[in-house]
Amino acid sequence: MQPKTTIWDLEPHTAAKHEILRRYVQAWAPILSQGKFPHLVFVDGFAGPGRYSKGEEGSPLIAIKAVIGQPRPITAQVDFHFIELDKKRSDHLASEVRAVDLPSNISTKIHGGRSFQDAFPDVWNTYDPKPGRIRPPTFVFIDPFGFKIPFSYVAKVLRAQSCEVLITFMFEEINRFLSQGQQPENFDDLFGCRDWREGINIKLPKERLKFLHDLYQRQLTQAAGARFVRSFALRNERNTMDYFLFFATNNELGLKKMKEAMWHVDESGAYTFSDATDPNQTVLFTAEPDRSLLTRLIVDKFAGAETTPSQIEHFVVCDTAFRETHYKKVLQVLEDTNRVMPVNSPAKRRRGTYADMNLRLLFGPKQEL
Ligand SMILES: C[S@@+](CC[C@H](N)C(=O)[O-])C[C@H]1O[C@@H](n2cnc3c(N)ncnc32)[C@H](O)[C@@H]1O
Repeated sequence: MQPKTTIWDLEPHTAAKHEILRRYVQAWAPILSQGKFPHLVFVDGFAGPGRYSKGEEGSPLIAIKAVIGQPRPITAQVDFHFIELDKKRSDHLASEVRAVDLPSNISTKIHGGRSFQDAFPDVWNTYDPKPGRIRPPTFVFIDPFGFKIPFSYVAKVLRAQSCEVLITFMFEEINRFLSQGQQPENFDDLFGCRDWREGINIKLPKERLKFLHDLYQRQLTQAAGARFVRSFALRNERNTMDYFLFFATNNELGLKKMKEAMWHVDESGAYTFSDATDPNQTVLFTAEPDRSLLTRLIVDKFAGAETTPSQIEHFVVCDTAFRETHYKKVLQVLEDTNRVMPVNSPAKRRRGTYADMNLRLLFGPKQEL
């Protein structure tokens, strides 16, 4: 149920999302600022009132504080845009933002009483680059209660250099309206195509979930052209799906940082996050990764081939749910058991070390692995 009041109770699943947003923005701002981008833009398209009923911060304050609370101050100009349709909520947000002591390189603008659909093009066009210039890297957080998310906006962001999106995909809501055959124009708009109609006839909930998830993922990759798309599923303590988060970027370091944020979610048991990019192969984010699964993925990919730690790392980061910090232990076990052999190992190399990212490694044939 969507709250009717100006502020409402923070649900555990929202807290989980906030933690991910905080960690990601904490990494995003310094990386781009030190990467010599003089100007960054953060857009919160469904910003909310800025605070929850027991005083917890909402996404706008979380993002601002992730930028201004850095151990080494960010030198880039960072512009925050907060779009919020409900005027009472946007007024509340305005008072919250005013209470934050902002350094001179941080600006905030609240687009109160306006919808994302209406205000986003204005925000985006403000930063249209002049000839020979580039658009400032822009992070767009899209966090609606429902699903009024124009795909054309998402595609516009992803076609621009160094711009990325984090989207809450409210599967329950989407599924309910889809079953009732309601709001077809909103679904066309959400998916950016008409193919979602095939989902109406899929009766098994699990299959329908997979169909809609895969369709959105396909659209982000193929229609919007994002190089990297990962989806994350959040389940509550009853193991029912609360929502998906879709993260799409063209930047490998961005992908690494989002995965790092995901692998750090807490393990209180109130909710669990898992990688849902490949629904046939759900990977739960836990303190210790499932190395037997990672071993299988690496072996399936490289059996019989000669490769390097650098290529293995690229595969792990870009094509699996795992992180760059996870695969070296897998290689150690494979080398210890002679299922992977170094080809050009220098005499002084210690077995099981992969600091040389160009070390040639020969994987045995599949049946031996
Ligand atoms: C899930 S809440 C946002 C929570 C916030 N992002 C946070 O994490 O603290 C969704 C917000 O979007 C607002 N909203 C609803 N429809 C909107 C629209 N079309 N455009 C912009 N905001 C909208 C609602 O009033 C609500 O405050």
